[in-house]
Formats: sequence, structure tokens, C-alpha cells
Amino acid sequence: MLKIGVLVSGNGSNLQSLLDNIDNGNIDGEICVVISDKSGAYGLERAQKYGIPTFSFDRNKYSNGEINKRILKLLKDMDISLVVLAGFLSILSPEMINEYKNAIINIHPSLIPSFCGPGFYGIKVHENAIKYGVKVSGCTVHYVDEGTDTGPIILQSPVEVSDYDTPESLQKKILKHEHILLPKAVKLICEGRLRIVGRKVYIDEEV
Ligand code: GRF
Repeated sequence: MLKIGVLVSGNGSNLQSLLDNIDNGNIDGEICVVISDKSGAYGLERAQKYGIPTFSFDRNKYSNGEINKRILKLLKDMDISLVVLAGFLSILSPEMINEYKNAIINIHPSLIPSFCGPGFYGIKVHENAIKYGVKVSGCTVHYVDEGTDTGPIILQSPVEVSDYDTPESLQKKILKHEHILLPKAVKLICEGRLRIVGRKVYIDEEV
């Protein structure tokens, strides 16, 4: 069974969607550790309710380099083979990305390559989408490489933007899709059904 580590900075609703899908047997994997760069993150509490070990290295206390070093050591010590960024805001170091090449995934609340990259996080993503006037936004699960939101795309889910949507209402609508998309991607990885060829991710048929 795949050993999964989840990194969170906040509420952890995406983490919850993974916990639910593992609980109901949809994902054949195990979340062995949840780590945060924010000590009060609610995601940590969610994990603790399941008896999952949690760690936090607060951004107010540790430098980005130190956070990365400590997280990498934990992941290695615990023999984690898949790292899921579920609303994790710190930048990953080149060492981390190198050690976990094609083994780190992220969920982003837009259809990449729109409204992504440096500075596009949280509500800002949706503010920009509304301001631009797009009729469709959505969410993306992708592999993490050295860039920001630039790795090969695994899955995307479109969401219609109505004339009356505000950044907050759009965020809410997209989050619901995220809770389906992220578990779907993790399930595919646990089943060994993803193949990366250049920028493309191929999904193998179920056997
Ligand atoms: C989600 O919108 C995710 O796409 C983004 O950060 C947010 C995290 O939400 N990367 P939650 O903490 O999982 O509720």
C-alpha cells in the first residue's frame, strides 16, 4: 500500500476528502503523516482525529530552507512515497523536488495555465478569474516540478462562472470539485495507472 504524506497550511478540506476516500475503501493508500508550516492549521486537527501523526514547522519560527529540510527528513524517515500538497503555501526546495521527482502532486483552484504561478493563491486566484471575465474556471491536479504550478497536468475539472459569481462564491463552487478531483488523482497513482511522458500524463486503463 502506498505511503502518503500530506502537507497543509490551512483548513485541510482537501485532506479531509482524501481521508474520507481512504476510509470508504475508494483509495488503497495510507496517509502516514500530515505536516504543516502553520502550527494552528485545522488540517492538523483533522489528521489527529484519525490518529495520524502530525508535525508543524511554523513559518514564523523557521526559514523556508529549514522547513524544507525538516519536512524532507521526516518524509524520508517515514518512507513516504507520495507527497500531496493540499493547500500548502511554502515553496518547496530544489532538494525536495529532486528527492521526490514525479512523486509530489498539488491541487490548484484554476484551470492551469490560467490564473496560476507566483502570487496566485487562495482567494486571489478567483478574484483574478472574475476580474478577467472568464466564463469557465475550475481546478487542476498536477505533478510538482521546479516551477510554480508548471508540472505535468494529471486531471482538470471545469466549473462554470455565472454573471453573479463573486470570488468567494466561485471559490466555494470550485472547492467542491477539488474534493472529487484530488482523491481521483491519488487513487490513480495508488493503482499505478499514471505514466508521464514529457509534459503529458497518460492514464492507463483499469485492468
Ligand atoms: C484549495 O483551494 C487548493 O486548491 C489550494 O489551497 C486550497 C486549500 O484548501 N491549493 P483546503 O485547506 O484543502 O480547504
